[in-house]
Amino acid sequence: MSICYFNEGFLALQHAVDMSIAEFITGKDPSMTYTVEMQRMPYPPFIDDTYLVALQAWLPFVLLVSYIYPAINIVKSVVYEKEKKLKESMKIMGLKNYLHWSAWFIKSFMFLASSTSLITILLCIHWHGPGSLAVLSQSDPSLVLVFLLLYAVTAICFCFFLSTLFSKANSAAAITGLVWFFTYVPYTVLRPRYASLTLGNKLALCLLCNTAMSLGCQLTSMFEGTGSGIQWDLLFSGVSPDDPFTLAHVFGMLVLDSFLFSVLAWYIEALWPGDFGVPQPWYFPFMKSYWLGRSVDEVKEPVTPPVQNSMFFEDDPKGIPAGVQVKGLTKVFSRLNKVAVNKLDLNMYNGQITVLLGHNGAGKTTTMSMLTGEACLPGPGL
Ligand SMILES: Nc1ncnc2c1ncn2[C@@H]1O[C@H](COP(=O)(O)OP(=O)(O)O)[C@@H](O)[C@H]1O
Ligand SMILES: [Mg+2]
Repeated sequence: MSICYFNEGFLALQHAVDMSIAEFITGKDPSMTYTVEMQRMPYPPFIDDTYLVALQAWLPFVLLVSYIYPAINIVKSVVYEKEKKLKESMKIMGLKNYLHWSAWFIKSFMFLASSTSLITILLCIHWHGPGSLAVLSQSDPSLVLVFLLLYAVTAICFCFFLSTLFSKANSAAAITGLVWFFTYVPYTVLRPRYASLTLGNKLALCLLCNTAMSLGCQLTSMFEGTGSGIQWDLLFSGVSPDDPFTLAHVFGMLVLDSFLFSVLAWYIEALWPGDFGVPQPWYFPFMKSYWLGRSVDEVKEPVTPPVQNSMFFEDDPKGIPAGVQVKGLTKVFSRLNKVAVNKLDLNMYNGQITVLLGHNGAGKTTTMSMLTGEACLPGPGL
């Protein structure tokens, strides 16, 4: 059947004529006993409902806006900890970096999971009992929940990645809001051209977490349009024979995105820990010391400071490894061009208590800040 007949109203007229003939012969209202489905081979029959078109456009947007506040909040809190030196202080006290991130992840996920469950209920509940309408009338609520939870995980990882790019909480919050919208813009532009996109295009678009979510919503609305709704057994099937893009692709890309954003967050944070902390060189993933740490035995023999006046220097203890070795440590405050610490050589030995003594302004605090990573270590020549 040509779609033309449908648009011109020919089919509606023919249907009305058929119905009245049937009614004339049987004496009953035929619309109660049979319905007419129209389909264009090889496509499945579809429900022609402008509501579904509106759903495609608005569902992703509503979800985008629902998650923007949590996203901004996550980025802001993580950067705030960094800005106020809280993270660095906790690390000095022995907090492992992965534990810090895991704690943030669990906290954010618990918040997002509860609001996501609420969103799923609102989308899938049939308010006036079974058979009445819902936003997603046909879809399996458990599948919608899994989809939205996966999106929440990706959103958290994306926020972690964004948080590593900033050192000030307020600017981070403002820019996160913008970036959140920009990761959705490609979808608004490409939605009307959905049919002309290839599978590769769609997968590439899924690298942006909000566009991935939008494409998932679009698939869900399109499955609503076929009358089946999105179901677990349709996870690996496309909506129409010529569209190989499935919800499984979206799920896969969301998992991949989470992984990529986490790795980026880990790498960028190590390279650029913000205003405090010790940055790693770019090749740090290939360094043995990053993964295993350096054992005390590996450290070379203690450096012996050049003896200026042996009367004032105690001999180094023999046979005890130096746990901390400082060689030529220097700090110049560039603003005042003030030399705070000048070529300090020092060994701190295992099992001994080492104390820094000195008059005010001798540089004790600056030395400790540099050793703990609270002040950035000056590079050579500073
Ligand atoms: N942020 C800073 N900017 C400029 N100079 C500083 C700064 N912090 C410390 N100094 C200077 O560096 C020197 C060493 O300071 P500090 O390490 O605090 O000494 P101490 O803790 O031994 O009293 C002092 O002369 C101090 O004025
Ligand atoms: Mg001091």
